[in-house]
Amino acid sequence: MSASLDGKKILVAVTGSIAAFKACELVRQLRREGADVTVAMTTTATNFVGPTTFAAFTGHPVLIEQFPDDPSAGVPHVDVAEEFDLAVVAPATADILGKAAHAIADDLVSTLLNILDCPIIFAPAMNFRMWANPATRDAVERLRGWGRYVMEPDEGELATRHVGPGRFPEIRRIMVCIRTQFDERQLLAGKKIVVTAGPTREPIDPVRFISNRSSGKMGYALAAAARDMGSEVTLISGPVSLSPVPGCETIPVNTAAEMLTAVELSLDNADVLIMAAAVADFQPVAAAPEKIRRKSALEAISLQQAPDIIKTVRPDFKGTIVAFSLQADDNMDSAKAKLVDKGADYLVVNSYSEAGAAFDVDTNHVWILSPVGEVQEIPTASKAEIARRILEVVFPVGRAE
Ligand SMILES: Cc1cc2nc3c(=O)[nH]c(=O)nc-3n(C[C@H](O)[C@H](O)[C@H](O)COP(=O)(O)O)c2cc1C
Repeated sequence: MSASLDGKKILVAVTGSIAAFKACELVRQLRREGADVTVAMTTTATNFVGPTTFAAFTGHPVLIEQFPDDPSAGVPHVDVAEEFDLAVVAPATADILGKAAHAIADDLVSTLLNILDCPIIFAPAMNFRMWANPATRDAVERLRGWGRYVMEPDEGELATRHVGPGRFPEIRRIMVCIRTQFDERQLLAGKKIVVTAGPTREPIDPVRFISNRSSGKMGYALAAAARDMGSEVTLISGPVSLSPVPGCETIPVNTAAEMLTAVELSLDNADVLIMAAAVADFQPVAAAPEKIRRKSALEAISLQQAPDIIKTVRPDFKGTIVAFSLQADDNMDSAKAKLVDKGADYLVVNSYSEAGAAFDVDTNHVWILSPVGEVQEIPTASKAEIARRILEVVFPVGRAE
């Protein structure tokens, strides 16, 4: 699956907050998305998490000492500061915000922050009174004035059980800020997108099922592309053999009925539903409770229509629905009829009789029908590219907010 941070050299500076342990998950997430991560820690931070953990997660020594016992040649903190594409101070204490705003450089982390020549994101975590303290406010405003990206902390219950702004921002929010530094096309920042992917399995008995040919690759590519464009993504996946998409919440399901339930539960506050899953059209009327034996006189399996997810959710869902249609050809008349019948806003048509398109392969060739009946063809390209193009059609530049 595409890794938006492939090869990016990122410094994560961990400071002495009770939330320091959450930096472990941030580091792991960055690594999953292909970043080369180095961690620097203040000595206070080492009271909260051991450097060994970060060394293991990153594969690099952890930078702590400004004046190590065995000094190496040159001025290592200056050399190292030039290596990074991005620095993230996470969690950022009131103390480090104050130091960074006043050019204080009395340990390795604060010295690096004075030297770094790359974008710096601060993800604050502190008591709500520390966050409200005029000295902290002043530091935050100064840093922002110089182009540093100081995130708003989350609101909620703090470590002390007080409630207010000061919680370490959700990892998902920090990841959006990080990706934004490398990709200005964050068309979908602030959006919530639900994507379905893969086949469903409709049981005949405990060991047999009716299913569709679907690898899930198109849906997974859409989830990754939506994530890379800044969206919060819920990926509802039938059984596939793909790795989860880092940074997306994945809900595994088996049957069409389970997928319907997961979609209904996920649509709350969602802006877009993309139905890339190959949901079964038919299901056995009843699954046999035990394996049907070969010797039994089974002549036929009674089928009924499986739930139509789009038609079921359409009346109550006010957001945009993108449906997929797998056809024998590129007949747009039947596609237009399907768009209307389903009540979808966009229909993405692909053809199973074309080589290099539809299921199982890494590429696709699609036609996108818009609500006003326009047809836009996207020639054969990787599913990652097709996914980006589909999202750009649904959210043309300037329309996302
Ligand atoms: C248990 C405990 C939790 C703390 N949590 C925070 C915190 O979440 N945010 C913060 O700004 N300071 C917090 N502090 C205070 C900092 O650790 C203290 O200001 C320290 O000097 C920060 O050092 P550093 O910025 O060099 O890491 C905490 C202190 C303790 C003892």
